[in-house]
Amino acid sequence: MAIERLVEPTAGSNDIEEERMEISLRPTSFSEYIGQEHLKNNLKLAIEAVKKRNDGSTLDHILLYGPPGLGKTTMAGVIAHELGASLRVTSGPAIERAGDLASILTNLKDGDVLFIDEIHRLRRAVEEVLYSAMEDYKLDIVIGKGPAARSVRLDLPRFTVIGATTRTGSLAGPLRDRFGIIHRLEYYKEPEIEQIIKRTAGILKTKIQPEACELLATRSRLTPRIANRLFKRVRDFADVNGDGIIDREIATRSLEMMEIDYLGLDLADRNMLRLMYENYGDRPVGLTTIAALTGDEMTTIEDFYEPYLLQLGLIARTPKGRVVTEKGRKHLQNSKNKV
Ligand SMILES: Nc1ncnc2c1ncn2[C@@H]1O[C@H](COP(=O)(O)OP(=O)(O)OP(=O)(O)O)[C@@H](O)[C@H]1O
Ligand SMILES: [Mg+2]
Repeated sequence: MAIERLVEPTAGSNDIEEERMEISLRPTSFSEYIGQEHLKNNLKLAIEAVKKRNDGSTLDHILLYGPPGLGKTTMAGVIAHELGASLRVTSGPAIERAGDLASILTNLKDGDVLFIDEIHRLRRAVEEVLYSAMEDYKLDIVIGKGPAARSVRLDLPRFTVIGATTRTGSLAGPLRDRFGIIHRLEYYKEPEIEQIIKRTAGILKTKIQPEACELLATRSRLTPRIANRLFKRVRDFADVNGDGIIDREIATRSLEMMEIDYLGLDLADRNMLRLMYENYGDRPVGLTTIAALTGDEMTTIEDFYEPYLLQLGLIARTPKGRVVTEKGRKHLQNSKNKV
């Protein structure tokens, strides 16, 4: 049985309250969007250029990729806002047939931004329609069946696609090539996560002391979504066990209760590290074996556990599989007795 995780960077899909909180905390402009300076600078320039030209040209299609919870969806909203454009949102798995895409595209207006989440999950037939739409704003559709069938070419409005994916590897080459701007979102720096926590505290009208903020930032896996989620849990703890103010003691006790250690790893991460180490020592283990050991899906391990453990250098990727590094082994020993 997989362990239910608090630090899972995916949005809790069945947690309506969390979804509501995410929406209320989502920055809407560049000035509110903390961090990712390199990306912001590039986008600001591109947007300014489009506005200045004012000749009906549109922003290049943009592909954002990187681990979950780093702000891809948020950035799509910010871009549309900064362009003064309307945002249409869909996702790879939601577009079932080429006809579905055709109806989305023909309903767009000039300058609109179409956000396609999980773009790596688009079906092949849909993807092919998207190619020509993105390239020359034309839609090729076949009307009728059999000998009477004929192909028509429709003009589409000039729109911008923003694609988001956690894995660029699984994106077809031709689709990738249609994006003029391809950017990887990076893990945040700790001071940036602190700023995000402060901002969240402000919006939720909760007092948090600087040392508590710092502490939470070190446990948030450098990921805004997790920072906000931990913040909310700690806030609940402060309301129940104190006067609602989050100080260092409340934060520490609450993190202890959640069994999140000083690197932000939770039980499930430590469990995976431990299983890998106990069964394979410093030899490489394949993904399928890890999945069998922990009882998780392979994609869960690849998308959610691994990126942060790799980022911290607790595990490494080799051609033969994943290995627990010296640092990983030490962490297992150190975190045995303390949270
Ligand atoms: N730069 C930022 N500044 C402040 N808050 C942020 C920032 N980026 C993300 N957040 C917060 O983190 C939450 C998660 O971000 P978002 O949903 O955009 O991530 P994502 O990359 O789209 O994740 P997924 O891959 O799961 O779709 C948002 O609701 C927002 O509140
Ligand atoms: Mg998203």
